[in-house]
Amino acid sequence: MATAITIAIFSFLLFTFIYLLSKISFRAKQNTLHHKKPPGPPTLPIIGNLHMLGKLPHRALETLSKKYGPIMSLQLGQVPAIIISSSKAAELFLKTHDLVFASRPKTQGSELMSYGSKGVAFSEKNELSVLVKTLEKAALVGEVVNVSEAVENLVQDIIYKMILGRSRYEQFDLKKLVQQGLTLIGAFNLADYVPWLGVFDLQGITRGFKKISKTLDEILEMIIAEHEETCNVDKTRAEDFVDILLSIMHQTIDYESEQNQEVIDRTNIKAILLDMIVAAIDTSATSIEWTLSELLRHPRVMKILQNEIQDEVGNKRMVEEKDLKKLNYLDIVVDEILRLHPVAPLLVPRESRESVTIDGYFIEKKTRVMVNAWAIGRDPNIWSENAEEFYPERFIDKKMNYQGHEFESIPFGSGRRRCPGIQMGLITIKLVVAQLVHCFNWELPYNISPSNLNMDEKFGLTAPRAQHLHAIPHYRLVDAKHE
Ligand code: HEM
Repeated sequence: MATAITIAIFSFLLFTFIYLLSKISFRAKQNTLHHKKPPGPPTLPIIGNLHMLGKLPHRALETLSKKYGPIMSLQLGQVPAIIISSSKAAELFLKTHDLVFASRPKTQGSELMSYGSKGVAFSEKNELSVLVKTLEKAALVGEVVNVSEAVENLVQDIIYKMILGRSRYEQFDLKKLVQQGLTLIGAFNLADYVPWLGVFDLQGITRGFKKISKTLDEILEMIIAEHEETCNVDKTRAEDFVDILLSIMHQTIDYESEQNQEVIDRTNIKAILLDMIVAAIDTSATSIEWTLSELLRHPRVMKILQNEIQDEVGNKRMVEEKDLKKLNYLDIVVDEILRLHPVAPLLVPRESRESVTIDGYFIEKKTRVMVNAWAIGRDPNIWSENAEEFYPERFIDKKMNYQGHEFESIPFGSGRRRCPGIQMGLITIKLVVAQLVHCFNWELPYNISPSNLNMDEKFGLTAPRAQHLHAIPHYRLVDAKHE
């Protein structure tokens, strides 16, 4: 027995030694052949640098980039990766060389949940009124409200209504299924980085994905069939996103013209719907949750914002979408939130389509590229010494439009793969925040003082608050009409 253990330990050490030797000689050879890789920390066999990511990868990577620079190499299991941590470097990758990095890596999750990666924006007033009424009841009795949960439910209702035409289905719990899927996508899946471990499905993620995607497929089929039926019968029904996709699918194909060759099929429709649902809900809800948290921590900013809305809207009615364009202070509050709390701190990974040399560094084909938007938004060289502070006024002379020209704050990414839902996301955040601070004054419960509000985040598909936000609403309008 002892001999067997000794042989096993010896074999492991020998394997590790040979591996490290081959890595060192490979690196040296690469660098001498003008294939200089960006600097990065030493790697371990099999896992590479995975162990260095910790629970909050964006923070761990920011610390590493201070040592190794804004273009840094990492080995994530068997996947070579580059981490971008400065606005200048982000511009090089997402603008100058955008085309090379316009692909997304196929992770197990995207394969199973998005029908093999085939996939690629308001009727919110009713949903908002329902929430305001519920909060009004809570205000009457001084109840503590779970703001995070209330906002998440609201955003889900808004997005489902917009995309699928209605927010509730009696037959199934779409929200729960999508939530379960999101948890699996957000989980760090070892099989994406060490593919041969995939067959063992050690974390049970593959089994989970298969189960959820089968049920989701059935539900999406049903929703599409329902739309096909009603579109022939009820011509007065307002168009939603499913109708638009169906009309594209049914358009006649002109085989002579090259333009019409890429008409979408049913599988594409399901993939697009799922992509949009997944991409829209968590992002908008998380941004609203952070905005309300920072406003509660900064009563000065809350007061200025409430005064602005009061001046424009008065105190007898709710905020409407048309009011938003006059609310300039709201704009900069949201800019500041997206800078400090970008909901996708590492954006969504890209992959190089071909080998390329950038800033003197050789980047191999199929290298994963992660842009640390969180680190860029907090870079003191760009945002001055108070970069960590919530101070919306810094945006007064800096108009942001997120169309890919400003690289100092890139919460929506940039280039060909930047977020297509920017407008819808911004309107959702602004309207919900404006409504909630216009209709209510908010008080922290349990004698928590504003400066003591816990602001820890957790890492998943998005980076929301680690703890739900709780607060007590106090109704402040005179006689608002909700419907
Ligand atoms: C505050 C709200 C939102 C934020 C912060 C956000 C952020 C992002 C980011 C960082 C990316 C990756 C961009 C890149 O790689 O350069 C992305 C992609 C995407 N977003 Fe958003 N998003 C938001 C809302 C939405 C909404 C409302 C929708 C749809 C209705 C949406 C749909 C998508 C889709 C489909 C992609 C994938 C684009 C592609 O791969 O080509 N997002 N989003």
